[in-house]
Amino acid sequence: MKVRLAKTAGFCFGVKRAVNMVHEAIGEADIYTYGPIIHNEQVVTELEKKGVKVLYSLEDLDGLSEGTVVIRSHGIPKSEYDAILAKGLKVIDATCPFVKKIHEIVVEQGEAGRDIVIIGNKYHPEVKATSGWCVSPFKVIENVDEAYNFSTSKDKKLCIVSQTTFNYNKFEELVEIISKKGYDINCLNTICNATEERQAEARIIAAQSDAMIVIGDKHSSNTQKLYGISKKQCKDTYYIQTLVDLDLSKLGSINNVGITAGASTPNKIIEEVHKACQK
Ligand code: F3S
Repeated sequence: MKVRLAKTAGFCFGVKRAVNMVHEAIGEADIYTYGPIIHNEQVVTELEKKGVKVLYSLEDLDGLSEGTVVIRSHGIPKSEYDAILAKGLKVIDATCPFVKKIHEIVVEQGEAGRDIVIIGNKYHPEVKATSGWCVSPFKVIENVDEAYNFSTSKDKKLCIVSQTTFNYNKFEELVEIISKKGYDINCLNTICNATEERQAEARIIAAQSDAMIVIGDKHSSNTQKLYGISKKQCKDTYYIQTLVDLDLSKLGSINNVGITAGASTPNKIIEEVHKACQK
């Protein structure tokens, strides 16, 4: 059986960096992550066994006066960052540098007198974090209706940025609607290509495979998307969390199998599945 593993399967640069930073901190006394470091049960449980506890909100900081808090790749609002430091806790900032760059942009542009428009989902942790770094008025816009309804005084200068995982075509569409309103706009495309590249590669591999395996946590929305994309190209697409879920007998008569994995799937799990398919 020919097995083709997607080069983009698994952790993106920012997630890999954040998980590594937690591993490097293990051994320090009282280590916490602010929110689960990634959306993957196996990884979080494994880290818990090594003493890494998860804090879910600022209230969870109550009663803590020492320890190290790792901030995950999505980042956090400045007020939460300051609250952690004010407790006297050590911070390891694993915010993805691409997200950190957006925080810097909104500060700079705000200080230069521009209001901020964030193209993204206001409930997404990354957008909440970016909003929390704004020093000037900001607005989050996610869809066409919100873009059409957006208005501010005519003399306002704007800076538009994007959630890193936003769809590029949708971003362009929303920017075009806002641009027609006649404001002085500085538009900065801050979309990260990692998600797009992973999806494009899954589409190609699935189209060329007799069976496709998509590995990821059942709650991971980007893995669900990869499954949907793969299934469209290859009807024998299987969604598994780990090797245990894979029924190898189903692959018995297959010549070509493709493998991809969501952004929060650890390499170890991907490798196990890859090896098992090669036997
Ligand atoms: Fe990952 Fe950072 Fe891009 S977390 S998706 S590399 S913005």
